[in-house]
Amino acid sequence: MRLQGEGVSPSFLALLDAEPLEGLTALDVGTGWGRVALALAARCRAVVGVDRSPDLIEDARRRAAAAGLTNVRFEVGDVETEEYDRWAVPDVVTAHLCMSGGIAERAARTLAAGGVFAAVAFHAEQWAETGRRSRFAYDEPQMRALLERTGFEAEHLSVEREVRTFGSVEEALAAVLGLEERWKVDGRWFRYVKYLEEGGRSLTRSHLMVKARRR
Ligand SMILES: C[S@@+](CC[C@H](N)C(=O)[O-])C[C@H]1O[C@@H](n2cnc3c(N)ncnc32)[C@H](O)[C@@H]1O
Repeated sequence: MRLQGEGVSPSFLALLDAEPLEGLTALDVGTGWGRVALALAARCRAVVGVDRSPDLIEDARRRAAAAGLTNVRFEVGDVETEEYDRWAVPDVVTAHLCMSGGIAERAARTLAAGGVFAAVAFHAEQWAETGRRSRFAYDEPQMRALLERTGFEAEHLSVEREVRTFGSVEEALAAVLGLEERWKVDGRWFRYVKYLEEGGRSLTRSHLMVKARRR
């Protein structure tokens, strides 16, 4: 059975499935509890997932053991300051909802020519209703420029956008339940509440899907 990657876009997995994964080693940076790494472990020769949160890495290790996967390991580390060859010599680097210039630079330094960098980044329109663009968000020209600068050939760039609409303010608030604390800190929460008070009833999820090859 293939783990399909809970909540991971099927088109992102399809971009990866186009590679001869069974013979390849993948490094998943900012792996969280490992949903992409675990999906890749069922496909690849070997997988390493790295995250700076020890709790999430523990969780990922538990899930790998529960799934009986022996070709995946998880390490605690900072993927924006450490070099990737300390964890693996990957043929593929994935960055799923953990994307920055530093990550693209480090992926480029560790991959040999022909190596694949696949990422899902927040797109500029992510949570547009909160009136604040994420500092981690990219639009297509910015992503193309980053890939070009870091030594990648862009092979695929697309936006996956979903606008959820709600019947009531309560429904709209319930949809962002786990985000309240974070949004209070970065100012999004009050803007979103104001938007709802003024009659708004939608929330945009917009992700930029990327596949690039090391020149
Ligand atoms: C939005 S979550 C995505 C997690 C996972 N890729 C997924 O899709 O389920 C972002 C993750 O990146 C991790 N992260 C952010 N900055 C990091 C860094 N500099 N080094 C390592 N991990 C980082 C966070 O701890 C978090 O688990």
